[in-house]
Amino acid sequence: MTAAHSSGRRHPSSTDAELESFLTSFDACYVWRYGAVKDELRGLYAKAKQDQWDGALDLDWSIEVDPEQPILPPELNPLVDYPPYLKMNAREQREVRHSQVAWQLSQFMHGEQGALLATAQIVNTVPWTEAKFYAAQQVADEARHVEVYRRYLTEKLGVPQKYNETITWFYLIAVAETLVGQRNRDFESWKAANPALVRRSPGLVQDFYSADRLNSPAARQTFLLPDRAS
Ligand SMILES: [Fe+2]
Repeated sequence: MTAAHSSGRRHPSSTDAELESFLTSFDACYVWRYGAVKDELRGLYAKAKQDQWDGALDLDWSIEVDPEQPILPPELNPLVDYPPYLKMNAREQREVRHSQVAWQLSQFMHGEQGALLATAQIVNTVPWTEAKFYAAQQVADEARHVEVYRRYLTEKLGVPQKYNETITWFYLIAVAETLVGQRNRDFESWKAANPALVRRSPGLVQDFYSADRLNSPAARQTFLLPDRAS
């Protein structure tokens, strides 16, 4: 959970359910001297202007991607030595890899939006004209990063974003409860003692949530309470 989440304000209406606003506090500088006071930044701005790119035109979106084939190098697969993953059959491993890569890239996409917001604030706060010019170029660059991740996740991996905050917190809380006083238990004995937590299709979370609630945009973005008694 980010600081933004902990202090953020969710908009209650359904129209704005996908927005989260949070207070930022900083001094914005309006600069009255338009002469260059930072020559080195002027050069950086000139270079940034020349090196602009267009994610829609400069990347080859015609390349076919099979989301169940290895997209990232195997050494970047965090499950590569994980015994339960190794026990899966080939089809299950492909499904997990697809979900795992989509999840990982979704996190990058959220991070790029954070960079977009942060660089936009830098435009406000820096006190030199050239710095504002250069920072403005970076804002545009961060927007392209979000654009490209979103397009890749949507068109190539078939998932606009994989992360679901309700599922994440549901299992974090459920697992944490099983660990009270049991921190030294090894994974195999924990698994044997908690079969419901490793059950798939339907998973434990589906005992507590309807599909509509679990797959809603609100559930993806904030933790919702269960709507089913179990
Ligand atoms: Fe970025």
